[in-house]
Amino acid sequence: MLFLLAALGLACSAAAQSTSVSAYIASESPVAKAGVLANIGTEGSLSSGAYSGVVIASPSTVNPDYLYTWVRDSSLTFQALIDQYVYGEDPTLRSLIDEFITAESILQQTTNPSGTVSTGGLGEPKFNINETAFTGPWGRPQRDGPALRSTAIITYATYLWNSGNTSYVSDSLWPIIELDLNYIATYWNFSTFDLWEEIDSSSFWTTAVQHRALRQGITFANLIGQTSPVSNYETQAGDILCFLQTYWNPTGNYMTANTGGGRSGKDSNTVLASVHTFDPDAGCDSTTFQPCSDKALSNLKVYVDSFRSLYAINDGIASDAAVATGRYPEDVYYGGNPWYLCTFAVAEQLYDALIVWSSQGYLEITDLSLAFFQQFDSDVGTGTYDSGSSTYSTLTSAIRTFADGFVLTNAKYTPTNGSLSEEYTSADGTPISAYDLTWSYASALTVFAAEAGTTYGSWGAAGLTVPSTCTSGVAVTFEVDYDTEYGENVYITGSVNALENWSATNALIMSAADYPTWSITVYLPPSTTIQYKYLTQYNGEVTWEDDPNNEITTPASGSMTQVDSWH
Ligand code: NOJ
Ligand code: NOJ
Repeated sequence: MLFLLAALGLACSAAAQSTSVSAYIASESPVAKAGVLANIGTEGSLSSGAYSGVVIASPSTVNPDYLYTWVRDSSLTFQALIDQYVYGEDPTLRSLIDEFITAESILQQTTNPSGTVSTGGLGEPKFNINETAFTGPWGRPQRDGPALRSTAIITYATYLWNSGNTSYVSDSLWPIIELDLNYIATYWNFSTFDLWEEIDSSSFWTTAVQHRALRQGITFANLIGQTSPVSNYETQAGDILCFLQTYWNPTGNYMTANTGGGRSGKDSNTVLASVHTFDPDAGCDSTTFQPCSDKALSNLKVYVDSFRSLYAINDGIASDAAVATGRYPEDVYYGGNPWYLCTFAVAEQLYDALIVWSSQGYLEITDLSLAFFQQFDSDVGTGTYDSGSSTYSTLTSAIRTFADGFVLTNAKYTPTNGSLSEEYTSADGTPISAYDLTWSYASALTVFAAEAGTTYGSWGAAGLTVPSTCTSGVAVTFEVDYDTEYGENVYITGSVNALENWSATNALIMSAADYPTWSITVYLPPSTTIQYKYLTQYNGEVTWEDDPNNEITTPASGSMTQVDSWH
């Protein structure tokens, strides 16, 4: 009897700290769905005061106050709900989706500190939950919002169009979608605050989701016969795809998350980008950073490894096993902690990769992805492994276990009632920061779907190639030799947006991979005369090169390397 009680006790606590992924998903999935719905006005039980269709980020009003609506969080949340509706998983969601779209169409028209609907206001990141502008100081604009919102609405509108609801789509939905797509086409090359609302530069996440939105927008506009903006969208999408390539750090083998900010650039920004631009028909394409691409796998390893020795709760975990991960290693928000949505995103990328390998019947290991795969079999070499081979089975089953480990890490730090906050502490895994974070729940829904092998349609990534001439930019590599002190870095800034407009604070950090040569590749306007300088930063001290400014004229197309000596 005693033994039985002890066993029952164990079973109870195991509800929170599940030992199997399937047990955790079974208990957490309904909590996550209910958690999302509770945070949507007006019916949601935790969203009192939120207008119809408005998604609150969290009910928390102090430490932090998240009782606002963010375009990013709301759109990612509704993407998950729209996928469930369109794929027949939950037919009850339709009126909620309609309410969301109405709410967003009101926010589009709400003049705010970023501008009016026609002067950049669509880049405003957050609003009050009664659909008025938030006028306090904030990191604005954040240009990912229109991309995420239009992608979600296009998914729904495509479904409605194909079910015969054509006039509603043309008359009511297209005008909302077109505003967002035009915003992307106009502003993608302007600097933006990143998704973490901290760095004003260019951001891989933002560029990647903008690219996806425009491509999906082109297919959709053609479908419904709204062809006039298509050729501009095509030109811009090609240029965005060019630009997307320039974030790659070829010495560190990862995607640099932001062009500014002076951090390592290792950031879940990039993992989230891979997951939210997953196209199950695009194979393991690296130019669009598909989850199974060599670049995205190499990047994933670098990102995950940056947290291994950073958080106490990761201590003692083997170097090939899952750990808790956060936004980026330098994060100090609430002390710098693991985030549920970041740790889930790692698992989701891996599950997405497994889906594609299984459907194409092979996996490929390149020089770039070798280090990732050698975590699971230190003897494996580059090559193509057919799904019948033992190497394929060994690797894919180890990778599934690895992926499951990230879900189980979050499971371990999920309280018994299943509620998901924004973060859990790096010291002992206690939930911290905003409670019942809508985005945490939405990220649970999407990773659980991926774990089950579910995919939600293509956006047109298959077969894309980087244009041979990038009309709005050319890749310029700058190199300068400089002997630095330990902890001192070399930066570049200059007269154009892409060089951060002479800002010392946002100057672009250069790579010392070939020390004492410092280098960086940036994407600059073609046939343009540009002035710039190098500077160093050391213990907060900025040292500029002497006058005069350096000057180059960029080529009309292609790329160039500029070798300078510090003066
Ligand atoms: C609030 C933002 O939402 C968060 O992302 C950021 O880390 C903090 N402000 C600190 O800048
Ligand atoms: C802070 C996060 O950094 C940001 O991405 C998010 O939009 C807000 N919190 C609201 O959840």
